[in-house]
Amino acid sequence: MLKELEAIHSDAISAIAEIADADGLETFRIAYLGRKGRITVVSAGMKDIPKEDKPAAGKALNQVRGAITTAISEKAEALQNEADSKASGNIDVTLPGQPTPRGSRHPISQILDQAVATLRRMGFSLASGPEIETEWHCFDALNTPPDHPARNESDTFYFQDGRLLRTHTSTVQIRSMESSPPPIRVIAPGAAFRRDEIDSTHLSNFNQLEGLYVDEGVSLADLKGTLEYLLRSIFGEKTPVRFRPHFFPFTEPSFEIDIMLEARGKKSKWIEIAGCGMVDPDVFSAVNKARGDSAYDADQVSGFAFGLGLERLAMILWGIADIRLLIENDIRFLRQFP
Ligand code: PHE
Repeated sequence: MLKELEAIHSDAISAIAEIADADGLETFRIAYLGRKGRITVVSAGMKDIPKEDKPAAGKALNQVRGAITTAISEKAEALQNEADSKASGNIDVTLPGQPTPRGSRHPISQILDQAVATLRRMGFSLASGPEIETEWHCFDALNTPPDHPARNESDTFYFQDGRLLRTHTSTVQIRSMESSPPPIRVIAPGAAFRRDEIDSTHLSNFNQLEGLYVDEGVSLADLKGTLEYLLRSIFGEKTPVRFRPHFFPFTEPSFEIDIMLEARGKKSKWIEIAGCGMVDPDVFSAVNKARGDSAYDADQVSGFAFGLGLERLAMILWGIADIRLLIENDIRFLRQFP
């Protein structure tokens, strides 16, 4: 029996050296230590050994079993190390890492997120529409006649087929009302395009946040309350807000909204920040015509709409002197808005 054990031992040691993967190692383990493995068979034979030889035989058996067990776990570890170093391409994973600089939200996104969160709490939901629009959605349905200056080739980017890059997000007012009857309470952030000369306060591609609320009995007081609340949530609770009469073809009455700005060391002044007004009944008529019903009956429902320029909000909030900084993506600028 001792001879047998010695043979098993030396077979095992040379076999294990040949093993190249975890499957091979498992097969080996079964062949030696498994239920029908060589060690198991030998130990079953212990009962036939004369009593006086048993201690020596038992000791030898344990030694060989122990040696094989240790060899298996050493081999397993060696195989794992080999796999690890292959996977990491010999990179020293214990070296300290190179930190990845963390980015942050663009100031326009930050202000948009804040405005959207406030308006959602007031019951507005998000709507959207295409940036390439029909003249009808951008102008006609918004009560803007063909001779209006905004429709001029020098103000608006037209495509050859007559479509255009929307000049404002008010197009989404029309699209929202076309697709759902009142009551409706939506906000639509998005890009707008105008043929403006680019300078420190103008871009030809900028961002607006449109709002529309139509229901029974919506009044100017609702408009004022909503916008004052929104603007104060952005600029501070005590910010003075003023509604100055203005003209937009699609709202009547219409207003521009100013907020009073206190710049350090400078005289406070009113700054224009948004356009708004009560939805013009002619807009409802255009929507009804497109819908083929009279869901937006100006005798039953009324509404308000507003449009904010997001770049302008950001410039005022953070005192950014040049609008172009917002599109240049200069990291020295963006880093200031963690
Ligand atoms: N669309 C207008 C603009 O771009 C703003 C506005 C929106 C005015 C909604 C009134 C109502 O200047």
